[in-house]
Amino acid sequence: MTGAREHSAAPLVDPARLQREIQEKYRQVASDPTAEYHFFTGRKAADHIGYPSEELDDLPDHVVDAFAGVANPFHWGPPSAGETVVDIGAGAGLDSVIAARAVGPEGTVIGVDMTIDMLDRARRSAAQLGFDNLEFREGRAEDLPISDQSVDLVISNGVLNLVPDKARAYREIHRVLRPGGRFQVADIVVEKPIPEGTQRDIDLWTG
Ligand SMILES: C[S@@+](CC[C@H](N)C(=O)[O-])C[C@H]1O[C@@H](n2cnc3c(N)ncnc32)[C@H](O)[C@@H]1O
Repeated sequence: MTGAREHSAAPLVDPARLQREIQEKYRQVASDPTAEYHFFTGRKAADHIGYPSEELDDLPDHVVDAFAGVANPFHWGPPSAGETVVDIGAGAGLDSVIAARAVGPEGTVIGVDMTIDMLDRARRSAAQLGFDNLEFREGRAEDLPISDQSVDLVISNGVLNLVPDKARAYREIHRVLRPGGRFQVADIVVEKPIPEGTQRDIDLWTG
């Protein structure tokens, strides 16, 4: 994937088509998380990445099964009690659930995702756990449904690599964070330049 490009640069792929393809991919993951994908899912993925087992052992399978993250955004530490956290591209909501436990009843966690099936799954998990400090909103990383300067910590796991206009997503993160707020991102980074023809191959964005 590319690094941040200016918002005015022509997109490398058709953003509307990419959005449809990503939504279809993650619709499948939400509805059939144990099928074969080109990435690990669920408990196997979380163990492989190194989530502490004590974070996962007492969670229902429904909460963990459709996890599709690439690393642990809490590597730099959990949120503190009472904080407001936003999880961009929350997916099935495992990181949002971990954050909701950490912030406690005085805090708030908002998971944002653009795939309805993932939101449905995440909302069912929050209801199953009885967490009322956790909500999931439909929205895009490029246009967060979150007010300005209202968030202490933004987390994101495996999502920004899927966003064609990364500069716009980063501007949104900056907009919603309070002064002194933090951003803990787990994602995929490439260290070598990728030929433009390869960057324009939409299958390599979703696959
Ligand atoms: C690789 S999954 C990771 C999900 C979750 N963070 C996790 O760790 O399990 C990517 C998620 O990001 C969502 N997504 C991708 N692009 C997005 C965008 N531009 N705005 C909002 N959500 C997006 C997808 O719908 C999917 O649920």
